[in-house]
Amino acid sequence: MKISILTIFPEMIQPMVECSILGRAVKKGILEIEIVNIRDFSDSKHKNTDDYPFGGGVGMLMMPQPIFSALESVKTNGCVSIYMSPQGQTLTPEIAKELSTNEHLVILCGHYEGVDQRVLDNAIDREISIGDYVLTGGELAALVVVDAVSRFVDGVLGSVDSAYEDSFSDGLLEAPQYTRPADYNGLKVPEVLLSGNHAKITLWQREMQLRTTLKKRPDLLKTAQLSDEDVKILEKIKKE
Ligand code: ADE
Repeated sequence: MKISILTIFPEMIQPMVECSILGRAVKKGILEIEIVNIRDFSDSKHKNTDDYPFGGGVGMLMMPQPIFSALESVKTNGCVSIYMSPQGQTLTPEIAKELSTNEHLVILCGHYEGVDQRVLDNAIDREISIGDYVLTGGELAALVVVDAVSRFVDGVLGSVDSAYEDSFSDGLLEAPQYTRPADYNGLKVPEVLLSGNHAKITLWQREMQLRTTLKKRPDLLKTAQLSDEDVKILEKIKKE
C-alpha cells in the first residue's frame, strides 16, 4: 500500500514513519510512505503557501495553487484523497479497515485556518477527523490515520490476525494481560493464566473482556457481538 502525505512540515512526519512497526513495514516494502512538501510546489517567488481570506476573518488560509499542484503530482488511478479536518467523519476501526483496502491514499494536512474551499470541493474525496478537538495542524491526525490504517494491511503486524484480535475488533475491550515474573514483589498474576488449562483461560479472558468493557466503556455493549453465553456472564457480573 502506498500513502502520500502532503504537508508544509515534512519534518513532523519523517521520524514517525521511520520507527517501530511502521518503519519495519516500510523497510520490508509492505508500506510505501511518500512525504511531499507542499511548499516545493508553490509558483510564488517566496514559495508562499498561505494568504489572507477573502471577506476578512482571522488568520491565513492555505492557497489553492500549491496544493492542487502537489496533489496533481502524486495522484494515481483509483487513489483516494483525504483531508484531515475536525469537520470530517470521525475515525473508527471500521473506517481504518475500509481505508486499508485502497492501494493508494493521499492525505492532505491543513494548517493555519484551513484550506481554500475549492481544493476540498474539487480534489478531495473525503474528510477525516480524529476527534472533536482542534489541533494546530493536520500532521498528527494524518499520522494517527496512517498508523491505524497500516495495522490492517497484510504483513504490517507480526500476524494479520492481531489487528482483528485487538480492542474493538469484536466491539469489546481487551482482557488484561500479564508477562513474567508471575510474582512481582507480591503482585501476582491471576492463577488461571498459569494453569495451562486453555479452555479455562479462554473463558476467563472472555469474562474479563466483558467486565472491562462494562466498567470502562459500557456504551460499547449496545453494539458488541455478544453470544448467549456472553449475555449470561454479563447478567451474572451485574448481579455482583
Ligand atoms: N486538524 C485539526 N484538528 C483536527 C482533528 N481533530 N482531526 C483531524 N484533523 C485535524
